[in-house]
Amino acid sequence: MSHDNLPVKDPELGHPVPNPGLEEHVERYTDVDKGAGDRAYRTILMMLGAVPVLAILFVVIYFAVPRDAYIDFGILQANAMNLGFGLTGGLAVLLIGLAVVQWARVIMGDEESVEIRHAASSSEEERAAVLEEFDAGVEQSGVRRRKLLLGAAGGGLGISLVPAVVLFADMGPHPTAAVRAETIERTIWEEGILLVNDVTWEPLRPEALEVGQLVNAQPANLNDFHGAELQVEKAKASIIVVRMDPNSIKIPQSRADWHVGGILAYSKICTHVGCPISLWERQTHHLLCPCHQSTFDLGNSGVVVFGPAARALPQLPIRVNADGYLVAQSDFTVPVGPSFFERDSSQDFQDGDQ
Ligand code: FES
Repeated sequence: MSHDNLPVKDPELGHPVPNPGLEEHVERYTDVDKGAGDRAYRTILMMLGAVPVLAILFVVIYFAVPRDAYIDFGILQANAMNLGFGLTGGLAVLLIGLAVVQWARVIMGDEESVEIRHAASSSEEERAAVLEEFDAGVEQSGVRRRKLLLGAAGGGLGISLVPAVVLFADMGPHPTAAVRAETIERTIWEEGILLVNDVTWEPLRPEALEVGQLVNAQPANLNDFHGAELQVEKAKASIIVVRMDPNSIKIPQSRADWHVGGILAYSKICTHVGCPISLWERQTHHLLCPCHQSTFDLGNSGVVVFGPAARALPQLPIRVNADGYLVAQSDFTVPVGPSFFERDSSQDFQDGDQ
């Protein structure tokens, strides 16, 4: 076996590899040509100067562009506000990065230096030497000579945080009881609203549903909403409608008139963390959530029979209207979806309730 390629101990330093030494220093064009150095300096200033403008544009877009405005790119559609955020925020971050890289490449000193490794603790002299080197580094960075550059970098970086602060506004409004009653505690279901198939948008008739069938449905008045508002209302109001043999399920006294001949409507939103559910086991009447396997018994008022969900699936009271279509009798009687701190759970259906 040849030992030719094995590392050799540096005879001078005792290191396992020979010291390759420093490459020959080559002057940069910005060091040899003062005009080029000044041009590079101005370019960096321009890049950093554009950052506050982009940050302000970001904020303007937040307040001025409607949330439901879209821009058409042929087969693709982009939300105008998100596109504006991406362009202004992305360009600002890109310019900061380019400016910093350019600063390091052409303005900071490019002298190579070598620090030999030694024991972890430093002597007083070594610390003093480090401070001296740090000072030299600050001097070389050009910060002292070109104070405007430092100001532009600080200003650019500081103002670029403003968009992040503005986005905090979207975490509101503060969920007081009145706000909750108008948002997460209500849906757009109300007395007389038609149940419509969420694909064909056809109103549902009892005779069109077979025993064992499950249909995803929406309230017909969802059509009155658009853009983000439509998504919010749809997320809360989506339901599943199932038909079961009334003799094979438990219907409590308090819900005796909530179904139409074994047709029952439930919220489609899992009470664990809100996944939409429609994995239906028609034989057992169980509905399985694909996210964490919570299982609800739709033949027993939606109570939880397995998994992490803590509350029964809310049931929507339904009836048939004069034209023979399925309609809601009211909104849900309890908030749909996952739990939240202020939620009153006393009205939730428990197994055995009548
Ligand atoms: S969201 Fe349904 S089980 Fe977790």
